Amino acid sequence: MHTTAQERLVRPARNLNGSLRLPGDKSISHRYGMLAAFAEGTSRFSNFSTGADCASTLACMEALGAKVNRTGEGIIEVTGVAGRVTPSSQALDCGNSGSTMRMISGLLAPQEGSFTLIGDESLSRRPMERIRKPLEAMGARLTLTEGHAPLTILGGPLKAIDYTTPVPSAQVKTCVLLAGLQTEGTTTVREALRTRDHSELALRAFGAKLTRTLDSISISGPQVLRAIDAVVPGDISSAAFFLCAAALFPGSSLVLDSLGLNPTRASLLDVLTALGAQISVLNLEEKNAELVGTVRVSSPAEGLGSTEVSGALAAQLIDELPVLAAIAPYSSGGIRIRDAKELRIKESDRIALTVKNLRAMGAEVTEFEDGLDVPGGQTLHGATIDSGSDHRIAMAFSVAALRAEGETLIQGADSAAISFPEFFDLLDLIAER
Ligand code: S3P
Repeated sequence: MHTTAQERLVRPARNLNGSLRLPGDKSISHRYGMLAAFAEGTSRFSNFSTGADCASTLACMEALGAKVNRTGEGIIEVTGVAGRVTPSSQALDCGNSGSTMRMISGLLAPQEGSFTLIGDESLSRRPMERIRKPLEAMGARLTLTEGHAPLTILGGPLKAIDYTTPVPSAQVKTCVLLAGLQTEGTTTVREALRTRDHSELALRAFGAKLTRTLDSISISGPQVLRAIDAVVPGDISSAAFFLCAAALFPGSSLVLDSLGLNPTRASLLDVLTALGAQISVLNLEEKNAELVGTVRVSSPAEGLGSTEVSGALAAQLIDELPVLAAIAPYSSGGIRIRDAKELRIKESDRIALTVKNLRAMGAEVTEFEDGLDVPGGQTLHGATIDSGSDHRIAMAFSVAALRAEGETLIQGADSAAISFPEFFDLLDLIAER
């Protein structure tokens, strides 16, 4: 079959075996890149995310006066602006990256000047009201375009607030904390469900002081950040595709080295265990307060069972839900996903596209506003997959394709490069055909 540069043909596999070290975590790389660019001094990172999203963060920070140098040895050196950015005459292009746009807005709101942020078509559809509310409560002025990007921030000194996030969002939490870092007084963010805490850990690693309770984080400003040297842990959300793929093949064995295992990110391991996969974690250590370890996964001879993902777990697993849904038909009892309405406003409507593509492969599935039910014990056939240029949909259905009958054509497969450019090469390395 003829494929274009945007497409990828995925053939079924017989088994999955191998040992890999994955590129750096996207969430952590965004934060290290942004904080280093804002700090005093030169930070050095190895295993920084290779995805286009983190390159967008670095490019925005360069446009604001930071210096970024990629050495031949895979090290990224970032020299920061020591707390004062230079307003750029050009719009800051956040590409496809919601994390870049939402977090950088918090960094820029207390800075003198006017800043315009733009994004690609998908990012320009995503809700930005969620950052306008707290930033305006702090005294910043933001102009949105019907609730979306392009957005303009008129920055200047702000006042501290006590803010409860209405939806669980680490990006919104980070946005407020980065504004609070530069604002006199104590800014507090409260969240009903604890979201990923990389910002809190990264801020501390760069020398900031903050206090945490079970449901709040407080930061007293202004504080200065100082450069660090760090190795970015492997991305567990990228690993999710291979962990789920390995779980599909009785007799598989996959080892992932130096993987980020922050407890606010690692719930997939519990869910796979609940489904019957055997998972062991070795060599656990802490680097800049982030847990890192080696994960070994293998699948039970009798195949996967069934599980439900809802409540707090759905919020913690939000990026991994498409791939979990994509392997669900091959389990014996199916997977039920609820309380995941946020999936509809990610890079695409991930509930709608997951349902559409499962059906294209011949699966039975029921769609809900906040999730989906995928019965188990199904046989899928190869199909043409509409990824909607959403990296996680493209990769999730490449995993479903491994156990389907016949070949699967992934349209918009090039979008994998948003978070994981090496995905298809590594998949070919570990899939036995
Ligand atoms: C992220 C937070 C989550 C997640 C996204 C990365 C982060 O988004 O889906 O992929 O790095 O903070 P929300 O904050 O919108 O939940």
